[in-house]
Order: sequence, then structure tokens, then C-alpha cells
Amino acid sequence: MTDLRQHVADRIAEALGVSTEAEKAAIQLTPPKNRAHGDVALGMFQLAKMRGIAPPALAEELCAKLGDGDAVIESVQTAGPFVNIRYRRAALAEQMVGGVLTDAAPFGPATPSGRTIVIDFSSPNIAKPFHMGHLRSTVIGASLCRIHRHVGDTVHGVNHLGDWGMPFAKMMTAWMRFGDEAELKKAPMRHMFDLYVRYGQEVKQHPELDAEAAAHFKALESGEDNEERRMWQFLRDESLKAFQGPYDRLRVTFDHMTGESFYEDKMEPAMERVSVAGVLEIDDGAEVVKLEELGIKVPCILRKTDGTTLYHTRDLAAAFYRDQTFQPDRILYVVGAEQRLHFEQLKGVLKRMGEALADKIEHVPFGLILARNEESGKWEKFASRGGNAIFLDEVLDEAVGQVRRIIADKNPDLPDADAVAEQVGVGAIVFNDLKNSRIKDVKFDWEQMLNFDGETGPYVQYAVARLASILEKSGVDLDATTALLEGVDWEHLADADEVLLTMAEFGPAVQRAAEQSEPSVITNLMIQLAGSIHAYLKEHHVLRAEPEVRAARLALVGAARRLLQTGLGLIGVAAPDSM
Ligand code: ARG
Repeated sequence: MTDLRQHVADRIAEALGVSTEAEKAAIQLTPPKNRAHGDVALGMFQLAKMRGIAPPALAEELCAKLGDGDAVIESVQTAGPFVNIRYRRAALAEQMVGGVLTDAAPFGPATPSGRTIVIDFSSPNIAKPFHMGHLRSTVIGASLCRIHRHVGDTVHGVNHLGDWGMPFAKMMTAWMRFGDEAELKKAPMRHMFDLYVRYGQEVKQHPELDAEAAAHFKALESGEDNEERRMWQFLRDESLKAFQGPYDRLRVTFDHMTGESFYEDKMEPAMERVSVAGVLEIDDGAEVVKLEELGIKVPCILRKTDGTTLYHTRDLAAAFYRDQTFQPDRILYVVGAEQRLHFEQLKGVLKRMGEALADKIEHVPFGLILARNEESGKWEKFASRGGNAIFLDEVLDEAVGQVRRIIADKNPDLPDADAVAEQVGVGAIVFNDLKNSRIKDVKFDWEQMLNFDGETGPYVQYAVARLASILEKSGVDLDATTALLEGVDWEHLADADEVLLTMAEFGPAVQRAAEQSEPSVITNLMIQLAGSIHAYLKEHHVLRAEPEVRAARLALVGAARRLLQTGLGLIGVAAPDSM
């Protein structure tokens, strides 16, 4: 019964004799604006409309039928068209603290939902530096994988590496002309970035370089065992090795490392399918699908005049492959908002083909990362200007370095200070990324994101450490969470409303995060939970309280620590027990 809201919703359905799915869906309980009115409220508008009665009348009817003798519901009141419900305090405490400490759903993972979801994320272009946009995709996508697993979905996290096509061919051309093997071995990302910049400069003087790249790509795509293929393998291997560092530091893993090259032999059958569907047209020698009838002006090019394939061709083959192999309910593409048209076109092609698959495809766009321009003070796209590359590892190092200095200052005797600084520094960046709704741009403001008192990763992590320290001082074993529940009298937590009601929001928050692909819902709940437990501890002693009260409060402290760990875990932030 740890989902109190579900329990109340079920009781309401019972009381009103709700039988249809539509009526059931209209029972949406939310916290009332004014908490003094109750713990959850239901606006009767939708249900009343379905039944053809006035909302206040239905509210009165519900109020009369609900309440008496329920284990959870303490009181029910109407306020015009609203019904306000208050939980019994002891039941609230027992269900929340007990639920969290025993890892019952929604605090622990749910039973299998039967849904399958593919999440395409990170997907950097090989042989190019891992840029900040890929950082966002990596962090958001990895979090969505964890959130969906938590709600019981089967998840396939896919890294759709950009390891094919013209961008890669240009890189190969630069490598063949200007590459230096020793440099590459020494600092692969740096050297690849230098080559990338060099190509951009040289091609201005020597436009024939692009034709050379196209020829290399054609040779690569011929499928023959040639110089291009060996080069491709070499650059791919080196890049993957280089990406692994940031992935490890961000605690990100993938279920499938299937990049664009994986679809080399799957593009012909995909093209065949488009052709059979009768939507492929020749336009100026290229093979395209026109999308005007869907309101998309730009046609989707699937094969160029020279016979080579494109980014779209691979995405189309990938969509078919994923649909067949994983039979997913949804396929999410966690890719920057600047690729909106690309995914509209992909969906459009499938729609024109009459494929049901079109409806499963969801672009999950996000905003830019902005950095402050030192001179103008303005916020600008975090970009690599004039060869000043931003390497993800360097950004992570910077955060960790700053945290290391803060620790040296505030807590010089902290054991394992380097490991903690790594967790807090990297965590601060991840947290900052997932704090606002993803479509918003993220400001990369060092001072703000490392502020231990702000709405930051360090602030929430610090709450975990504080709670762990109280538990340690009390003499309980940090890992024996359920032992905290023994013999607790829940009436003693009647004063912990704020914390308990915040915990009650966890289940709905995780659901919403999954449905809307919005990890920020969880991030914000963690800020609230940390805030409410800090506030509680300001007003209430734990260790010095009477034995019975102390036991109840220790259980609350243990539950708050556990739930903060779980929430931080879902967004991919470590939760050290001391810092
Ligand atoms: N490699 C692409 C880029 O860096 C992102 C790929 C996203 N995934 C996809 N299926 N198109 O822009």
C-alpha cells in the first residue's frame, strides 16, 4: 500500500462505482495548493461532466460515501467542486518509512510492466571530440534508461555512434593527409580534434578535399577490404577507447554499441521496403521521399546521386531493425533540438509508407549548454571556437578540482577525499544538467552549480552525508536498513509531515519522469526532500530524543537517506556517505 495516492484513488473509484477506464483516468489526485486543506485533492469537474451533474454535488456525494473506517484516510472535506483528503498520520509514516526501508515499489523497482522501450542516446560522432551536446544526450538518456527500468520497463539503451557517412569520411581524409600516429596514441581526442579543425581550414583553400572524402566514403561503402576499411576500423577502435573514460566517470553503460556502420548491410533492404511502399521518387538523380503532404517542406533524401547513403538512410534502417529485434512500444531519440527536422522527416517517411512504427518514434529534444563569455559577460553556446576545444574530460577535471579545493578547506581530514571529490564534482555537472526541464538551455555556471547551499548536486549529496553521520553516531549499521523499523511507534512521526508528504510524491514523480522523458521531475523532488529533512532536523533532535521518539526519528532519517540515494541513483549522481 506504499502508494497512498493509488489507495485513495481505488477507494474513490469504489465509492463512486467507477467502472469505465475513462472515469478511472479522471481520478487524478494532486496535492492541494494550500496544504492546510489536505494532503491530496480531487477536482470533480471531469467526472461530474461525464455523469452530467454539477461538480459540487458530486463532491458532496463522494464526501458522504468516503472515509469512515479506512486505514489510510483520516478525513474528507469538500471545498466547492474539490474534495480534500487527509491521510492518517501514523499510516502515512508507516507506509512511507516502511516502504522506503523495505525497497517496496514505487521506492524500489516495480514488477515488470510488460512494456519495452528503446532509448537512443549519447551517440557521438567517432573520430571527433565528445562535445557538450553529447554530454547532455548522455546524461539525459542514461537517466531515462534507469527511470524506465525502475518503473518495470524492459530497456534497450543504444549508442548510435556516428561511425559512417561523410562526416566520418572527412575525418578519414584529414587523417590520411595530416595524421600523426604518435600524436594519436598520445592524446587521441586532442589529435582528432586538431585534424578536424585542420580539415575545416584546408577545405577553404582546397575544396577538392570534399570530393576526396566522398571518394573515400564510396570506397568504404563498397564493402571491399581496402585501405579505407582498415582506416575506419583503426579510427573507430581508438575513438571508442577514448570515449570510455568519460562514460566511466559519468557511470554510463549501454546495452548495444550499434553505430551507423552496423546498418551497412541493412540499408538495401530498407530502401527496398520504401520502394515497394511506392513512396520513393527520383529527384535530380537522388532518391527521395517527398513529405509535403505531411506539411514538411524538405524532402527526405535517402540516396545521393553518386549512389551513397546518408544519415537518414541509416536511421531508417535502424528504426526497422529495432522494431523487428526488440518489438518496442516506444523508441526515444535523445538528440538536441537542432535535429528536430531530421526526426520529423524520419517519422514522415514511415507515415507515408503506412508503417505503424511511425507512431513509436519520439524525438526527445533538449536545449544547449551555455557558457559565459569572459569579455561580454553574455551567455553563449558552449562551443569550440578557433581551436579552443572543450574536452569533456577537462570539464569534469575542472569540477573535480574545484570540489577538491572546497573539501581541503572545509573538511581537511576527510578520508578518501579524492574519490569523494570525483563523485561530487562529476555529480554537480550531471545534477546541473538535469535540474531544469530538458528543453531549456543549461547555464554552465561553476559557482552556482558547486554551491553547497544552492539547489545543487553537492547540496543534496551533503544531505545524504549528514543523515549517514546521524545513523552512524546512533550505532546502527548503515546497511541494515530494515532493522530501523523494529518496534517503531509511528505516532511519533506526526510532526514529520513535510518529509513524509515529499516522500509520497516519489512514485508519481517517477511515473511522470518516465512518461514525459523528464528526469528533472526527480531532480527537483530530491531538492525538496533534502530541504524538508534539513528543516526537520533543525527543529527536532534525533540522537538526544527519548528512546521511543529517537527510534521513530532514526527510521525517518534512514528512510530519507535511502530515498535520496535512490533518487540520485536514477539521475546518475553518486551519493557518498561522507563528504
Ligand atoms: N551522431 C549524431 C550527432 O552527433 C547523433 C545521432 C543521434 N541518433 C540517431 N539515431 N540519429 O549529431
